[in-house]
Amino acid sequence: MAFSFFFRDVPALDVAADAMIEQTRGQMRVRVWVAGCAMGQEVYTLAILLSEKMNYFGFQNLNIIASDIEKNFGEVVTNGEYEWGDIERIPDKLRERYFSPTGRPDIFAVNSLLRSHVTFVHHDLLSLKPVCEDVHLIICKNVLLHFHPEERIEVFRMFHKTLAAGGVLANENTQKLPFEVQGLFSQISNDSQVYRKVEAS
Ligand SMILES: C[S@@+](CC[C@H](N)C(=O)[O-])C[C@H]1O[C@@H](n2cnc3c(N)ncnc32)[C@H](O)[C@@H]1O
Repeated sequence: MAFSFFFRDVPALDVAADAMIEQTRGQMRVRVWVAGCAMGQEVYTLAILLSEKMNYFGFQNLNIIASDIEKNFGEVVTNGEYEWGDIERIPDKLRERYFSPTGRPDIFAVNSLLRSHVTFVHHDLLSLKPVCEDVHLIICKNVLLHFHPEERIEVFRMFHKTLAAGGVLANENTQKLPFEVQGLFSQISNDSQVYRKVEAS
């Protein structure tokens, strides 16, 4: 199921974004992976938060890969077009800054600068292959709860390998990390399931 909405669980995205920005300050390339992105609501929420938080040069170096097992979401994410009912919950100031009317009734488009930082990749998490390496932030929320416990563990192991040193992982708030992978990550904040990669000893 691809249920999602704009500005969902912003407190956790804020914690994850702040930790990633702190970790990557001064780096030439910053990579973010939003795994199980549905139709892009979470990806563009994150892109807006990062655009607001990062300085101009930091944001210029940002590449966000959005992936989902549903191939047909690619067109929606790439076009970044949404109905008013989808975007009305976005705070007015941010909605006005990052969305414009398309000229078609009720349809608004994410601005092209934001879109230029987002690339959709058709990807199955159960392949256990990452979409790229040395990722600084992985957001994977409300996806793994549908997997079998052994599959979740293997996906977390793949995320651990995929993260750059000090990389950040955000999981849905309702699920704790499986016991088997707790040693691979340290929790950043008690209020959210946001973790930093721990180097294997
Ligand atoms: C409930 S939505 C969550 C969307 C967004 N992450 C959020 O929290 O709002 C779950 C998404 O995971 C995707 N998904 C399910 N199984 C997947 C898999 N094996 N690999 C990649 N994506 C998958 C679904 O297609 C769907 O878009």
